[in-house]
Amino acid sequence: MCGIVGYVGGQPALDVVISGLKRLEYRGYDSAGVTVLADGQLAAAKKSGKLANLEKELAARPLPSGTTGIGHTRWATHGAPTDANAHPHLDNSGRVGVVHNGIIENFAALRAELAERGHALASETDTEVVAHLLAEEFSSCGDLAESMRRVCRRLEGAFTLVAVHADEPDVVVGARRNSPLVVGIGAGESFLASDVAAFIAHTREAVELGQDQVVELRREHVTVTDFDGVPADVRAYHVDWDASAAEKGGYDYFMLKEIAEQPKAVADTLLGRIDAGGSLTLDEVRMPASVLREADKVVIVACGTAFHAGMIAKYAIEHWTRMPCEVELASEFRYRDPILDPRTLVIAISQSGETMDTLMALRHAREQGAKVLAICNTNGSTIPRESDAVLYTHAGPEVAVASTKAFLTQLVACYLVALYLGQVRGTKWGDEIGSVIRELSAIATQVDDVLGTMEPVRELARSVAAAGKNTVLFLGRHVGYPVALEGALKLKELAYMHAEGFAAGELKHGPIALIEDDLPVVVVVPSPRGRSVLHDKIVSNIQEIRARGARTIVIAERGDAAVAPYADHLIEIPPTPTLLQPLVATVPLQVFACELATARGNEVDQPRNLAKSVTVE
Ligand code: G6P
Repeated sequence: MCGIVGYVGGQPALDVVISGLKRLEYRGYDSAGVTVLADGQLAAAKKSGKLANLEKELAARPLPSGTTGIGHTRWATHGAPTDANAHPHLDNSGRVGVVHNGIIENFAALRAELAERGHALASETDTEVVAHLLAEEFSSCGDLAESMRRVCRRLEGAFTLVAVHADEPDVVVGARRNSPLVVGIGAGESFLASDVAAFIAHTREAVELGQDQVVELRREHVTVTDFDGVPADVRAYHVDWDASAAEKGGYDYFMLKEIAEQPKAVADTLLGRIDAGGSLTLDEVRMPASVLREADKVVIVACGTAFHAGMIAKYAIEHWTRMPCEVELASEFRYRDPILDPRTLVIAISQSGETMDTLMALRHAREQGAKVLAICNTNGSTIPRESDAVLYTHAGPEVAVASTKAFLTQLVACYLVALYLGQVRGTKWGDEIGSVIRELSAIATQVDDVLGTMEPVRELARSVAAAGKNTVLFLGRHVGYPVALEGALKLKELAYMHAEGFAAGELKHGPIALIEDDLPVVVVVPSPRGRSVLHDKIVSNIQEIRARGARTIVIAERGDAAVAPYADHLIEIPPTPTLLQPLVATVPLQVFACELATARGNEVDQPRNLAKSVTVE
């Protein structure tokens, strides 16, 4: 996490950097800072808290104008979110400025070494050592890009670094290992950022930086090398979404906009996946059919919301392909020595494509010879680039920290992969696949239908907030269980409430002790038309908690007469096949959490302590 912007060109750098940081604030908002080069000097400003604090500071004490600058919005790792720990960090002479995303693991040794050589370090960060090391190298070679290469060769850990030096006024230098960094190529101006959103208002031409590369940015050209100075091949690409897609489009919050965009996101993710003969054609999955045919198990790794998508995928994969499928939190996966071999198909799910836990899990899997298929929303990000194959979700940019439309599209992508496996392995007939695809194609309209009936859910959320409730439980069975977990996660993330999801059958083994008078419990009820045993069991569970005083909030299929009498609040969703129900059942939970958070006065798009793209382990 952390958002980084660098600029060199003809415009006032401060304006470009600040507007870029606004687009990147989702990556962290513990502090923000900028440095511009003006009259042969570096001028810097930094402030703890959100970017708005920095803007106030700049209004009170304006910086001199310059056309080269860097900026940073921070999610704290080393050192508290104070002004002193905010980036940019300068060396003792004040001639080098550096911003950083990631963790420099050997910083303590480097810091001790610098202290011995007489450097005085002013912050608790790992970043500051880089400013001092760069200053030392620059004094011997007089070239910022070369200094950066020399410093990077000494660093361990994950880092994106962007630096300026007062003696090289029209140059910005960036370096990348493990954390994201993209270059924007404009006319007579160049950009560096953690995400293209920071510069698409200026240019849509981008260049991906690879692992262990250093870029020297000048107005008219950029030069990319590896850490040893060997020129690197770069891949240029055109960004196909525009600046307006990254703005709120009239909604109060990005999250509301992104919830509303779900029907389109779901439909877009299905686009172009079926050929004229009705077969699935997942062109981006450039993995030979033989690999998928020979695979003997599937392991899904992901974090947060994406992990919940993986849990749901397991039901579909095992049901449609009869392949064993494990789902594991990416952060736990590699530390338990998982059993992997060339016949294991690992599916890594990630919206951002930059989540470090997931990246490390997939690297571990590939080292063991497993094949990795990524399901990802961010073109050109690290996870798909390091995977054997990728299936992109087409959710468009997701800015709100709490994931919504990305989740629904991850589900669609998981269903497609499961069907595709069924197709190539011959466990599903063409007409069966066609029928699921038709059902999936109807989902966008059904999500739209759900969105049109959400006012009672918002009212309910306001009433829970007004009643001062601090705990909400969520129950589900089968695919409704991960939906319950996702509903609880949304509430934790946004409303900062104690929210827990349980498998409804597990209730009697402990959680039922939590039930007390008027405790809100959300229950996700499977379709009564599906496996009736599932439905009947959960109706019994609802009666059990109701008998103990719970206030039941029931999400059930429209026309489910059996459950209605036990619902204090009934939220109806359209009929869907059992396996696809999460695509519609999750939506009211997103709306519920968003409204409850708003009613409690919380920041919906940027919940406290969280970041959207978590690039540290
Ligand atoms: C963070 C976000 C979550 C997200 C998770 C995984 O924790 O706050 O909303 O689900 O990362 O992110 P990814 O980009 O890998 O899907």
